[in-house]
Amino acid sequence: MTSENTNSVYVALIHHPVYNKNRQVVRTCLTPLDLHDISRACRTYGIRAFYFVNPMRSQRELAQMIFDHWSTGWGARYNPNRKEAISLIRIAADLEGVRRAIEQEWGRAPKTVATSARMEGPDLDYPEMRARIRQGRDPFLLLFGTGWGLVREDIDAADFRLHPIQGQGEFNHLSVRSAVSIILDRILCDR
Ligand SMILES: C[S@@+](CC[C@H](N)C(=O)[O-])C[C@H]1O[C@@H](n2cnc3c(N)ncnc32)[C@H](O)[C@@H]1O
Repeated sequence: MTSENTNSVYVALIHHPVYNKNRQVVRTCLTPLDLHDISRACRTYGIRAFYFVNPMRSQRELAQMIFDHWSTGWGARYNPNRKEAISLIRIAADLEGVRRAIEQEWGRAPKTVATSARMEGPDLDYPEMRARIRQGRDPFLLLFGTGWGLVREDIDAADFRLHPIQGQGEFNHLSVRSAVSIILDRILCDR
C-alpha cells in the first residue's frame, strides 16, 4: 500500500477512560517508551499522526516536553531518526477533541476502530480494514488502550471493532507498543 493511502490513518493512545486491574475506570500516566516506539511504528507505516490523549494537563505538558526535546531541542541533533518519528505526535485532552481535529483536517469525521485483546463481537478483520483504507473515502482513527484497556462504552461507540491479534495459543495480552506494530503491519501491508 502506498503512503498516500496510509496517510488517511491516525492512531490514538487513550489514557482515559480506561480500566484498571479491578475494572474500575481510571486515568493512566504517560509511558515514555510508548511515545518513542509507537511514533516509530507510525512513521514506518506512513501514519498521518499519532495522538497522545490524556485529560491531565501535567501529563500533556510532560508529553510536550518530550516532544520538544526530541523535535527541536538537543535530542533533535543527537538523533534525527527519532526526531522524524516523534514529529508525528499530537497531544489532545480527549477523544472528542481528536475527532474534531481530524474532521477539520478532512472535512469529514474519522471512522473510529477500537482494539482489544478480548473483543466481544468483533466486526472488522484485517483484510476488510485494508480494503476500506484503500478505498480512500474516509479517514480512520485506530484506538488503543493503556492500563487494562479501553472501556466497554468506547468500544461499543466506535464505528468498528477490530478482531484481536491471536498468536499460537490462548494468551494474547500484548503491550500496546507491540499491538500497534502488529496491527499496522496487518492492515497496511499485503504480505
Ligand atoms: C491493555 S493495554 C496494556 C498497557 C500495558 N500497560 C502495556 O504494557 O502496554 C494494551 C492495548 O494494546 C492493544 N492490544 C493488546 N493486545 C491486543 C491484542 N491481542 N489484539 C488487539 N489489540 C491488543 C489494545 O488496544 C489494548 O488496550
